[in-house]
Amino acid sequence: MVCLGNICRSPLAEGILKQKITEHNLDWEVSSAGTGYWHIGNPPDERSIAVALKHGIDIQSQRAEKLKPKDLQYYDLIFAMDASNYRNILSYATSEEEREKVDLVMNLADPGRNQKVPDPYYNDDGFEEVYQMLNRACDALIQKYKDAPSS
Ligand code: 4NP
Repeated sequence: MVCLGNICRSPLAEGILKQKITEHNLDWEVSSAGTGYWHIGNPPDERSIAVALKHGIDIQSQRAEKLKPKDLQYYDLIFAMDASNYRNILSYATSEEEREKVDLVMNLADPGRNQKVPDPYYNDDGFEEVYQMLNRACDALIQKYKDAPSS
């Protein structure tokens, strides 16, 4: 799960998806990262921590990381929050196989609509909407892949 700073949107996506993976007894590895370096090593934004806790998810132990080129080799699927993240992720791709792993996260819930998850950094009221969008996308991700054979 990839956003810009890895402190607002993608830590929420990681926390939500990890909770659903546990609920569904799946053996998936999930991580999140940012395309920017500013917040490396920092915990999630306190507003993301609060909205996650409100929904029963603890994301306080996460620490921000920057996306690495080798992440595109290692992970099977890579989801961007918005078009800018999407372009930045693709700039690391070295093959068609890697490019095909990347999509906008909301295309899971609403295929082909290319909706973004809005950056809530400058909008205190935006975090609940981000949570709801990501919850929907993660539900769709579980439904789409839960019966896929593991690699
Ligand atoms: P995120 O939000 O990409 O969802 O983690 C942001 C966090 C920090 C900044 C921008 C967006 N920033 O400009 O520092």
